[in-house]
Amino acid sequence: MGQITLKQVTKSFGDLQVIPPLDLEINDGEFVVFVGPSGCGKSTLLRLIAGLEDVTSGEISIDGQIATDVPPAKRGLAMVFQSYALYPHMSVRKNIAFPLRMAKTSPEEQERKVTEAARVLNLTDYLDRKPGQLSGGQRQRVAIGRAIVREPAAFLFDEPLSNLDAALRVNMRLEISELHQTLDTTMIYVTHDQVEAMTMADKIVVLQAGVIEQVGSPLELYRNPANKFVAGFIGSPKMNFLDGSIAAEHNAATIGVRPEHISVSREGGTWRGKVGVSEHLGSDTFFHITIDGMNEPLTVRESGEVDLRRGDEVWLTPSASHLHRFDAKGLVIR
Ligand SMILES: Nc1ncnc2c1ncn2[C@@H]1O[C@H](COP(=O)(O)OP(=O)(O)O)[C@@H](O)[C@H]1O
Ligand SMILES: [Mg+2]
Repeated sequence: MGQITLKQVTKSFGDLQVIPPLDLEINDGEFVVFVGPSGCGKSTLLRLIAGLEDVTSGEISIDGQIATDVPPAKRGLAMVFQSYALYPHMSVRKNIAFPLRMAKTSPEEQERKVTEAARVLNLTDYLDRKPGQLSGGQRQRVAIGRAIVREPAAFLFDEPLSNLDAALRVNMRLEISELHQTLDTTMIYVTHDQVEAMTMADKIVVLQAGVIEQVGSPLELYRNPANKFVAGFIGSPKMNFLDGSIAAEHNAATIGVRPEHISVSREGGTWRGKVGVSEHLGSDTFFHITIDGMNEPLTVRESGEVDLRRGDEVWLTPSASHLHRFDAKGLVIR
């Protein structure tokens, strides 16, 4: 179980409405990521689902039961906090068992659940250590273990990896995805990082200023963004946007084309340009190329190493089947 439905949910802090009326359906077993820029309302939305904030209006139901006024502890959901929320003086075993002790679960039941959680999380050999004797990734797993023993209908994560270094983040991303496959339980995961959203989600919810801009699978959002905001937010390096006469030729206010959908040639093509800065990643090279009639350079992604230098005159050709057209309001024209 773990189906969550939000109907016309709003949230205001005083006079400030941070979530205008919002509808959302989260299916049992889904990995859903809320993504958007800082301050767009991701944490607020998660806290409304957890019951840590009261809705201003609207209805939240969990597995068919209206939960709007149910206190957090009774919703059957487990929030996973960042690893520094562990108790430093308690062993890993005691940290994981903490919610069970609070619920006055029998010692035998506690032992069984902690053993099982430790097995799933590869923490069996660390149960007698203190959090200070663990790596950052292990500490994060202990925090997850504390949620697992509650056997929740859904796990709620709020930027759990933001205080880990880059390599460890990649590692934990895989571990959480694997954990989702093992447990097969609904997970709602908040991040401002579109790469985390793309790599982990079954379903991404893109938010801006409390409004859902689009809901879809990672590839749906990449291939068919509904508007300029989603087009620019999903994908790295970002989609290029062109306006003015170039967009007008395509009967749009703006056209968008991703860096990987532009080819470069010295012989000829659609747009004439001049090479500026390049970024060499080894696997890829990103060229910043200024074309006639546009102030901002376009980013072009080439596989591997390509011999282009600053100041070279080149031609760019966008892939016709990968052009995105947007109207004056930023909505996609299909
Ligand atoms: N307790 C609060 N009181 C007043 N304003 C709040 C409170 N919590 C969040 N906000 C405001 O609500 C908006 C959304 O915040 P938040 O949900 O934390 O965004 P995110 O998690 O996407 O960064 C922000 O403008 C923030 O300042
Ligand atoms: Mg937040």
